[in-house]
Amino acid sequence: ETIDWDPEDAGKSGYDHYMLKEIYEQPKAIRQCLRERVHELEGSVTVDELAELECGGPVQFVACGTSYHAALYGARLLRERGIPAQCFLASEYDVESIPVTKETVVVGVTQSGETADTVSALRAANRTGATTLALTNVVGSSAARECDHVMYIRAGPEIGVAATKTFASQQVALAMLSRVLSEECSTEFVEGLRDLPDQVQRVLDGSTVRAVAEAYEDANAYFFIGRGYNAPVALEGALKMKEITYKHAEGFAAGELKHGPLALVTEKTPVFALLTGSNISKTLGNVKEVEARDAPVVAVTDSPDEVGQYADYVLEVPEAGPWFTPILANIQLQLVSYWVANRMGRSIDKPRNLAKSVTVE
Ligand code: G6P
Repeated sequence: ETIDWDPEDAGKSGYDHYMLKEIYEQPKAIRQCLRERVHELEGSVTVDELAELECGGPVQFVACGTSYHAALYGARLLRERGIPAQCFLASEYDVESIPVTKETVVVGVTQSGETADTVSALRAANRTGATTLALTNVVGSSAARECDHVMYIRAGPEIGVAATKTFASQQVALAMLSRVLSEECSTEFVEGLRDLPDQVQRVLDGSTVRAVAEAYEDANAYFFIGRGYNAPVALEGALKMKEITYKHAEGFAAGELKHGPLALVTEKTPVFALLTGSNISKTLGNVKEVEARDAPVVAVTDSPDEVGQYADYVLEVPEAGPWFTPILANIQLQLVSYWVANRMGRSIDKPRNLAKSVTVE
């Protein structure tokens, strides 16, 4: 149930940076993640390696960094199916103060499978008798060995320190996990997954982010806002920007902007607003608040006709429904960070002070 890594994938294949190559590999990574797991005719999702997994109780996700943002997305999908699910930063997961029982399923989301905080949270969960599951990219990694169950995200090797394709693959794997655990799926969901690789390709082929990067490379700070399934994408957009440009960036649930961060908004702080799906109108309200403070607005949207008049730039994504449009929106944000960092001449694949996997707590 694993796939062999192609040595070709480990070179830069003509791209200036691994990060850009890995961004462009996302259609392939998602296809690999889906292979033999989504069944169009039956309208079902199955994951062979999880055949023995039983989930009768609450789910707790433990993760760090980008993987934590994927976990936030996954937890929301589970809650929508009626499964209680919470997310913990792995370094804050303390089994003494969090109710963990034998019915609890603790899911470690970790690309490398080697992040010390995550592996140690999983170890602590194992000691309590909870069921543990590793969602990882690396066969035989510490997290894979530590857990009762493993689901592989099959993204292929990721060399750039900033996680890109592994994030998309984690989101897709978590979407599938939500259907495996709730034991119900729909044709709409399966078709959404099936269409995703092509839609990601459309975003990559049509992206106009280089103009945005050029316009705002001198900004003082960048803010990212989104609601619902887009809230974790806002956090991830900001993390990516910080990691590779070294500039101040913050992501917020859109509704929180007015509870403090708005004080930071000026004409020197572009705001990236995720405006997709059914909650556009509320987020547009937040956009109007920042515009009133003269902040430039970049809309990432599947509804350019509706939001275009409120934005200085529009980055378009295809309409893919509430579960999957955020995956597409994130690709635009990855590209924005990449091109800002590229214009600034940053060390994109190996940002200062950061490591691909952090093996100390
Ligand atoms: C490091 C990397 C991040 C990554 C985090 C978690 O801090 O720089 O990009 O998101 O670790 O990594 P993991 O391998 O556990 O997903």
